[in-house]
Amino acid sequence: MMNLDLTGKRALVAGSTQGIGKAIAMQLARQGAEIILIARNEEKLIQVKNELPTPASQEHHYIVADFSFPPQLKVLIEDWLELNGNIQILVNNTGGPAGGPITEAKEEEFIKAFNNHLICNHILAKALIPGMKEAKFGRIINIISTSVKQPLAGLGVSNTIRGAVANWAKTMANELGQFNITVNNVLPGATNTVRLKSIIENKAAKTGKTVEEISQQMANAVPMKRVAQPEEIANAAAFLASPAASYINGINLPVDGGRTGCL
Ligand SMILES: NC(=O)c1ccc[n+]([C@@H]2O[C@H](COP(=O)([O-])OP(=O)(O)OC[C@H]3O[C@@H](n4cnc5c(N)ncnc54)[C@H](OP(=O)(O)O)[C@@H]3O)[C@@H](O)[C@H]2O)c1
Repeated sequence: MMNLDLTGKRALVAGSTQGIGKAIAMQLARQGAEIILIARNEEKLIQVKNELPTPASQEHHYIVADFSFPPQLKVLIEDWLELNGNIQILVNNTGGPAGGPITEAKEEEFIKAFNNHLICNHILAKALIPGMKEAKFGRIINIISTSVKQPLAGLGVSNTIRGAVANWAKTMANELGQFNITVNNVLPGATNTVRLKSIIENKAAKTGKTVEEISQQMANAVPMKRVAQPEEIANAAAFLASPAASYINGINLPVDGGRTGCL
């Protein structure tokens, strides 16, 4: 029987008050993990914490943090670990960078996205790795984007930073495999979340088309003729977090209904 059980394990899930992050937190909790949520909005954090399943009578927690302030995040996570002990599963995730053509991107936008994505991932990973080594079990899962494989039109800053995060992750995987810590990336395609809604609205405003037309175009670009539900992304992340995924390391897993055109 494939082992998906996460009872007795702790999972820090970032960007987890809505969308893909929340769906991942819900799924990992269903598999028995104790969840530590992170986001900026405390009200929403409390609400999600109360929604999380507790099949193993596990306790869930949250940390209020803003990824726009990496040094603060570092202090918050280090203090939390000192007080509460180790975490074995890390899901790196946060809101995506603003859209726009790369030729119009401002330098500050790259720096902001680099901080929010790469630097915050690094801070969390560095803080958790010693505990993962101690447990002789660790999972680092980064929610990135299919732009790791093929740039997406109109997402210049995002495409650039996603490439950096993917290379960071692959290098981490090379260094950490020997400790039974795996590092893998999940690459969502278009997924039905608030983030997608705002991308569709922006495109509609720019092209003069209706929101329905843009949504239809987006669905038509996918071999499966629909966008994903957040739970479908969460299932892939939860599998990678499980003991069953013990020999999967250093991969980029598109969960995009087949949209990405390359192998
Ligand atoms: N949805 C898609 O179609 C799609 C496709 C490909 C890739 N992705 C990528 O997958 C990731 C998640 O997407 P999503 O659609 O689930 O996003 P989302 O609905 O916008 O949710 C983002 C989550 O991150 C938190 N967050 C945002 N900014 C933060 C900050 N500065 N500090 C701390 N937490 C922050 C938000 O909570 P608070 O507001 O409370 O902080 C929220 O819980 C993003 O990187 C996105 O670009 C999404």
